[in-house]
Amino acid sequence: MKTPELMDKVVALCKRRGFIFPSSEIYGGLNGAWDYGPMGSELKRNVKNAWWKAVVQSRDDMVGLDASILMHPKTWEASGHTANFADMLVDCKNPKCSARLRADKIENGTCPSCKGTSFTESRAFNLMLKTQLGAMEDSSAVCFLRPETAQGIFVNFMNVIDSTHRKLPFGIAQIGKSFRNEITPGNFTFRTREFEQMEIEYFTLPERADACYREWIAARHQWYLDLGIRPENLQLREHGKDELAHYAAGCTDVEYLFPFGWSELEGIANRTDYDLKQHAQFSGKKLIYKDPVTNQEFYPYVIEPSGGCDRGTLAFLVDAYHEEQVNDDTRVVMKFHPSLAPVKVAIFPLLKKNADLVALAKNIKTDLKKEWNCVYDDTGAIGKLYRRQDEIGTPFCVTVDVQSLEDKQVTVRERDTMQQTRVSVENLKIYLREKLA
Ligand code: GAP
Repeated sequence: MKTPELMDKVVALCKRRGFIFPSSEIYGGLNGAWDYGPMGSELKRNVKNAWWKAVVQSRDDMVGLDASILMHPKTWEASGHTANFADMLVDCKNPKCSARLRADKIENGTCPSCKGTSFTESRAFNLMLKTQLGAMEDSSAVCFLRPETAQGIFVNFMNVIDSTHRKLPFGIAQIGKSFRNEITPGNFTFRTREFEQMEIEYFTLPERADACYREWIAARHQWYLDLGIRPENLQLREHGKDELAHYAAGCTDVEYLFPFGWSELEGIANRTDYDLKQHAQFSGKKLIYKDPVTNQEFYPYVIEPSGGCDRGTLAFLVDAYHEEQVNDDTRVVMKFHPSLAPVKVAIFPLLKKNADLVALAKNIKTDLKKEWNCVYDDTGAIGKLYRRQDEIGTPFCVTVDVQSLEDKQVTVRERDTMQQTRVSVENLKIYLREKLA
């Protein structure tokens, strides 16, 4: 099912089950801003942890960084954002409409709001969000909320080399908030004005850059597949020469088939030696690599896999959404990869009036909680409790019944197959560990 209704269903589920809420909803919301609720914050955290584990902790050639959002304004002059980070903007001339639109998003010369065909001349609109630092309100206090995390990595290149004595090739990874004053935010969390990026700058020898670019494309594509995205919903799209920035030697997007069409999740770019050279020129500092064996000095080439955490999370939500017919009922189930599921195990007592049974269920929950995010629930009939967990994608439900008090066994129900297995309380952790690995 890849229809616009699917998107509506995912948005409704996100609200109903506490994944994503409109920002400041009690005041009518804020366009282009969303809040992650109890389930969404767990899901997004799991996405970030999976990324960090894959690109930093399980590799020998990567280190992490957590740079500040506010940076010296010269950073953005050097990176080119002050001069060039703009969209072309037009206004619809229909006085009853006056929609402000991105010029490149107008199809067949027609306004998407009122179907008018007359527009103002296009003008450049810089997407960086401006703010004022300190008590002064003059131009000397102007600062920007970073539009990408990447520049925090480039300006720390020498700090990382000097403090870690890294040799080429090596990479620096960072997760953090970025801000863009998007003209037309939309498609739920796909295009927002505040979002989180997961970015890598991988420094390599110029002659190794192309091979390295191909390796990162394969690695980043595989990461989404490993976390359960269906292969038919994922594709790689190499940019044509006319799409590339003047300094880029190549760029490939990982795209996901959203209900609104194929759209970018992540871009992998060969940025050549552009950024380090720019910052060296603007700062007057030596940002050069010295080979410890040959003593040769040169600017490394940079491969940049740059993904959006919110877009990735949205793709995992859309891909996980399933509706299944069970007898006369429709079951909505989020088939998340176990490592992404917000809750791993839910524990229910079959009879909440039986104190011994409740105590056993709560003890099991306390024990499992040491290893996984678990919940205890006794607020409904068992069928209703299962459905509730299906909708948040909990891989396993454990039910404690009267028989459990005698045989010290519980019923484990698997989310996708709905298969039920009796497992001894003693072996429960080992059983779940195998299944959740
Ligand atoms: N440093 C390179 C860079 O920032 P980008 O293609 O502009 O490249 C990288 O952004 C990723 O950040 C995108 O692939 C997307 O996942 C995410 N992203 C960019 N703008 C976004 C927005 N307005 N809302 C949500 N995610 C966004």
